[in-house]
Amino acid sequence: MAMEAEAAPVRLRLGLSAPTRLHPALPATCSRALVSGVPVRLVTAGVDERSGVDSIGTIPAAVTAWAASQQGTPRVLVSAGTAGGLDSAGARIGDLYLTHGPVVFHDRRIPLGGFARYGVGSFPSLDCTSLAAELGLKTAVFTSGDSLDLAPADERAMGSSGACVKDMESAAVAYVAHRLGVPFVGFRAITDLIDGPHHVADEFARNLAAASARLADAFPRVLGGLAAILPGRPG
Ligand code: ADE
Repeated sequence: MAMEAEAAPVRLRLGLSAPTRLHPALPATCSRALVSGVPVRLVTAGVDERSGVDSIGTIPAAVTAWAASQQGTPRVLVSAGTAGGLDSAGARIGDLYLTHGPVVFHDRRIPLGGFARYGVGSFPSLDCTSLAAELGLKTAVFTSGDSLDLAPADERAMGSSGACVKDMESAAVAYVAHRLGVPFVGFRAITDLIDGPHHVADEFARNLAAASARLADAFPRVLGGLAAILPGRPG
């Protein structure tokens, strides 16, 4: 997870330990618990010392996911938190989404032959169709980039990939999961409608606490459902 405001309610809900430093070279944190017998580690990218804010975005997400994965043998990597949603594709504030299909980038425009495809990325996610139906969650294609707003070119890229959910980490964590051969799942609560009438940053700030609480409430059921469908044994 990227933001402490998103992670704190999840730690409480799952009864996770107080966060400790994940790696000496990173501001990342790690909390642990056994949730219904399944070992869970909640990792955040931590606070950026220079700016004093959470290290959101793709670079800290990838480095943190990599460092965390080297300290164990994860059965799944989950990128969880809040996200923007496309009103025009049916997203509503507070909706909870699991990933559907490949996770892509929307702001890596490289019109140089094969680099165009490289830029979009497209990393697989675990099939969560049945789990989402069972838990009453929505599914959608997730797309990631390093800006909160939606530039016109980003909106066109989202349209081409059929994405509905926009965040700043999932594609980066999905890339790490893909490299390691570990299943990936995105789990996000919608705070703002990026093609809606309101200012995205204001809407995000207004809905952050409520959306994070909804995410935390659903977390035990999502983890329980994932433990049931994942290959391998807890460990
Ligand atoms: N997280 C919450 N809202 C977002 C948005 N509009 N873009 C990217 N990440 C987000």
